[in-house]
Amino acid sequence: MPRFITVATTAEIPPGEREVFEVEGLYIGVFNVSGTYYAIEDRCTHDDGPLAEGDLDGFTITCPRHGAQFDIRDGRVLAMPAVIPVPWFPVRVEGDAIQIGLED
Ligand code: FES
Repeated sequence: MPRFITVATTAEIPPGEREVFEVEGLYIGVFNVSGTYYAIEDRCTHDDGPLAEGDLDGFTITCPRHGAQFDIRDGRVLAMPAVIPVPWFPVRVEGDAIQIGLED
């Protein structure tokens, strides 16, 4: 069972928006897609690019550095040059708090 940590309120990330948070030494990008939140590490597995700054099309994020693509729902690689999935995190909403789950 992951530990859930509050990173923001729902009002801070409206639909279509995203924010990056530092959580226990990790930079995590949190995305609101049509009212559902998704979280991935803000570090491309190809060469550490700032992944959460990339273009988002549906659930596909494109790394701004060399164009690798990932699915923000589960971190899987959709396009080279990355070959390793990006870490993703469970997200839940408690009241108006957005919480990210971290494994110990
Ligand atoms: S750092 Fe993301 S594609 Fe190279």
